[in-house]
Amino acid sequence: MPHLLAHMREDIATVLDRDPAARSRLEVFLCYSGLHAVWFHRINHWLWNRKLFLTARFLSQVARLLTSTEIHPGAQLGRRLFIDHALGVVIGETSVVGDDVTLYQGVTLGGTGKEHGKRHPTLLDNVVVGSGAKILGNITIGSNCRIGAGSVVLRSVPDDSTVVGVPGHIILREGKRVVITDPKQINDPLSEALAAVANEVHKLRERVRELEGTESKHEPLSASLQRIMEDIDYQI
Ligand SMILES: CC(C)(COP(=O)(O)OP(=O)(O)OC[C@H]1O[C@@H](n2cnc3c(N)ncnc32)[C@H](O)[C@@H]1OP(=O)(O)O)[C@@H](O)C(=O)NCCC(=O)NCCS
Repeated sequence: MPHLLAHMREDIATVLDRDPAARSRLEVFLCYSGLHAVWFHRINHWLWNRKLFLTARFLSQVARLLTSTEIHPGAQLGRRLFIDHALGVVIGETSVVGDDVTLYQGVTLGGTGKEHGKRHPTLLDNVVVGSGAKILGNITIGSNCRIGAGSVVLRSVPDDSTVVGVPGHIILREGKRVVITDPKQINDPLSEALAAVANEVHKLRERVRELEGTESKHEPLSASLQRIMEDIDYQI
C-alpha cells in the first residue's frame, strides 16, 4: 500500500510504452479501465491478505461493475501488468501473474472446474495473452510466451513459446516453427499426423536396411522426423 502511488506512476509509464494509441499520462490515468482494475485489485488484495475477505470480495465486484474486469482479490499480480481494453477479463483466485505481462480483452485465467486448492494458472514474466484466450487449470505459462487470440490452453507451456489453437499447441519456440514429437505434448493434429508419418518412414528405413543386410544405425525417431522436416524449414 505505501508504494501504491509509485506503482501507479510505473503502470502509467508501462501503458505509454506498450500501447501506441496512448498519448498522454492524463489520458492513460483517466481512460484505461484495465489500469483502474489493477489499481482496485491492489487495494482488494491488501484487504484480502488482512483477512477482510468479504470487504475485498465486495470491492472486487464494485471494480467489476466499473471496469468490466473481474479479478478475484486472492489473485497474485506482478508489476507492470497491462490489461488492454479490459472488457471481459476474468482472473481466478489462485492465479499468479508475473511481471510485465499483457492481457487483452476477453482473457480468462480460470479453473477447469475439476480441481481444488491451486486451480488457476501461473503466468511467468513477460507473457502476452491474446484476446479471448482461455488458460485453464493449475498450469504454468513460461516466461516470454505468447498465447494466440482465441486459444484454449490446458497444458503447461515452456519458456519462449508461442501457442495457438483449441486446444492450444506450440507453433513457435524461440521464434522458430516447431513440430512437437513427444506424444504427451502433441496437441496439434498436424504434428500428430507428421509424427505418425515419420514413424512409418523410420520403420520402413529400418526394414530396408535389414533386407539389404546393411548395418542399422539405430537412429532415434526424432532424428528421422528432423530430416523429413528440414526441407520445409520446421524445427523439432
Ligand atoms: C499468436 C500470435 C502472437 C502469433 O504472431 P506471429 O508470431 O506474428 O505469428 P504469425 O502471424 O506469423 O502466425 C504463425 C502461424 O500461426 C497462425 N496463427 C497466428 N495466430 C493465430 C491464432 N490466434 N489462432 C490460430 N492460429 C494462429 C498463423 O495463421 C500462422 O500459421 P501458418 O504459418 O500456417 O500460416 C498472434 O497471431 C496473436 O494471436 N496475437 C494476439 C494479438 C491480440 O490478441 N490482439 C488484440 C488487440 S485488441
